[in-house]
Amino acid sequence: MPPLTSEKQQVHDFWDAASCGEVLYLHGSARADYELHARKRYELEPYILEFADFESAKGKRMLEIGVGLGADHQRFAEAGADLSGIDLTERAVDHARRRLAAFGLSSRLAVGDAERLGFPDESFDLVYSWGVLHHTPDTPKAVAEVWRVLKRGGTAKVMIYHAWSLVGLMLWVRYALLRFRPWVSLRAVYARYLESPGTKAYSTREARQLFAGFDDVRIRTVLTHGDLLESMAGQRHQGPLLSVARKIWPRALIRKFFPRLGLFMLIEARK
Ligand SMILES: C[S@@+](CC[C@H](N)C(=O)[O-])C[C@H]1O[C@@H](n2cnc3c(N)ncnc32)[C@H](O)[C@@H]1O
Repeated sequence: MPPLTSEKQQVHDFWDAASCGEVLYLHGSARADYELHARKRYELEPYILEFADFESAKGKRMLEIGVGLGADHQRFAEAGADLSGIDLTERAVDHARRRLAAFGLSSRLAVGDAERLGFPDESFDLVYSWGVLHHTPDTPKAVAEVWRVLKRGGTAKVMIYHAWSLVGLMLWVRYALLRFRPWVSLRAVYARYLESPGTKAYSTREARQLFAGFDDVRIRTVLTHGDLLESMAGQRHQGPLLSVARKIWPRALIRKFFPRLGLFMLIEARK
């Protein structure tokens, strides 16, 4: 891979210190550890199962961008996808390799950059990426790469962050309002405090613009464990305020009256 820009190096360093979910839910690198991690993941994020629809990848040439610890990658491999996967960090690729090996599965895994995919045009029937493309500095370039490597008629399934979310609101209250700096924008708060430096979040309108080159773009947002304070809001946040909020959070009311204020935006689109 060519040398990373300083912005991308920061993203790399953040995720190379600990892959997503590693600190909280992975306690080793044996088969049982990965099983426990997967159980926790799909308990907390059941909507992944419906969105990814792992079984539907059987026999398809597919690429996952940003494999992280490799839980979804394992499911795609088990379903019989003809699978490739990349991640910006060696750490994630090593985890995904160890995980697949522990289950006797295989995939072409490599370190790579979403903004510069090392695959020819029209290589894949399916490109899947969960919680990744908002971290890379040039997200439009990464989306253009997804389009490029998809075959005509191929499908992109991408989750990126939704700006108008309760996680975003909580972060804004914590890092802008309670610091008497209400002029600090929601975007700045996401970029500085959610996860890796420069993380972005999009309105559904902005997401439509990002995917304007695709056909049949379907977008929905979901309330996450972070919005509902059923877990951490990302792996950086803890503290007494959050512990109190977790006890009094009106989850039923939120589900009923604000179902769209979720952090995750699920995008399915066809080339
Ligand atoms: C929040 S984690 C998500 C990982 C996994 N998809 C999951 O759901 O657990 C974000 C991942 O994106 C990767 N990433 C960030 N920028 C990237 C880029 N430009 N190209 C490839 N992967 C990238 C990070 O290394 C990290 O593993």
